[in-house]
Amino acid sequence: MKPITWNGKELILLDQSKLPNTVEYIHCTDWRTVVEAIKMLRVRGAPAIGVAAAYALVLVAREVETKEGSYKDKLEAFIHNACILKESRPTAINLAWAIERILQKVENHVGIFSDVINSIEQEAIVIEEEDKALNEAIGENGLTLFEEKRGVRILTHCNAGALATAGIGTALGVIRKLHKNGQLERVYADETRPLLQGARLTSFELYEEGIPITLQTDSMAAYAMQQGFIDAVIVGADRITTNGDVANKIGTYGVAVLAKAHDIPFYVAAPYSTFDFTLQDGTQIPIEMRADEEVTSLYGKNVAPLGVDVLNPAFDVTPHELVTAIITEQGVLQPDYRESISALQKGCM
Ligand code: MRU
Repeated sequence: MKPITWNGKELILLDQSKLPNTVEYIHCTDWRTVVEAIKMLRVRGAPAIGVAAAYALVLVAREVETKEGSYKDKLEAFIHNACILKESRPTAINLAWAIERILQKVENHVGIFSDVINSIEQEAIVIEEEDKALNEAIGENGLTLFEEKRGVRILTHCNAGALATAGIGTALGVIRKLHKNGQLERVYADETRPLLQGARLTSFELYEEGIPITLQTDSMAAYAMQQGFIDAVIVGADRITTNGDVANKIGTYGVAVLAKAHDIPFYVAAPYSTFDFTLQDGTQIPIEMRADEEVTSLYGKNVAPLGVDVLNPAFDVTPHELVTAIITEQGVLQPDYRESISALQKGCM
């Protein structure tokens, strides 16, 4: 089930907010529909929102082209709307990364504006294809952490799978490869409150594919670890800073603390587009705060008193000390992360 399809005319997004009960697609010909879909988590997961935004820029360019004005006017309108897209979610760096990459192409372009639309589309296609390849490589590199191991049991949090990327997923990419190799015994998926990406998406994705999966509430992770059910944790990431601090779905930090307490390796799987080489540490990562209703209600039904104060950060930051290794397409990064991430940035792993 592909989360994102570009057919040359429109961007078709699988509405993940309705999964697993309803499989519905949104046909976007207006980039504003993509902004709404990103904000409402109809399309979600760091790499997937980067790919969706890249295609949305084709829609922006097409709209701008229909307006009267000089090349400069059109360029300004394009950049203005690209910024609106970029602000649709603040934590996942892949969104800003994909938009910046296309903006650079547009700004370097010489000639009439209509000519640039084709090159935006080509770049969006390249970003999507690249993401597929990155997922494959991350999966393969992840296998090196489990050499000779059989019957591996992995805990994952949120959804860093095919629904969150253009390919087989990052964390779930490694899990898929382990399964294909006959090394995986079972995946334990945290349900991931408040929006249930683990229950609705990860368990859906893996269950459909016949990969053994056990769903647990977030509060059951400690029990599962204490009982000796878990051999390793693998999660995705929304942004990784140059010291190896990792922003990921709220609750990930807690899982990392638990993993440390039980001497279980905690792995993060992410492509280079998830690294923010401009930030020194996780305190600089903007954390998205979301609506109270996500916590106070479930499927439109109140589960808390009306008006109660709510804390609803969408992400937390796991300090690098708790991260055993980071699995990238270029290889597995080990501490000292300042050194290994700098090598990744220079492409000399
Ligand atoms: O709020 P979401 O569902 O977009 O959060 C997604 C995550 O936290 C994922 O783990 C992360 O984006 C990596 S997806 C490969």
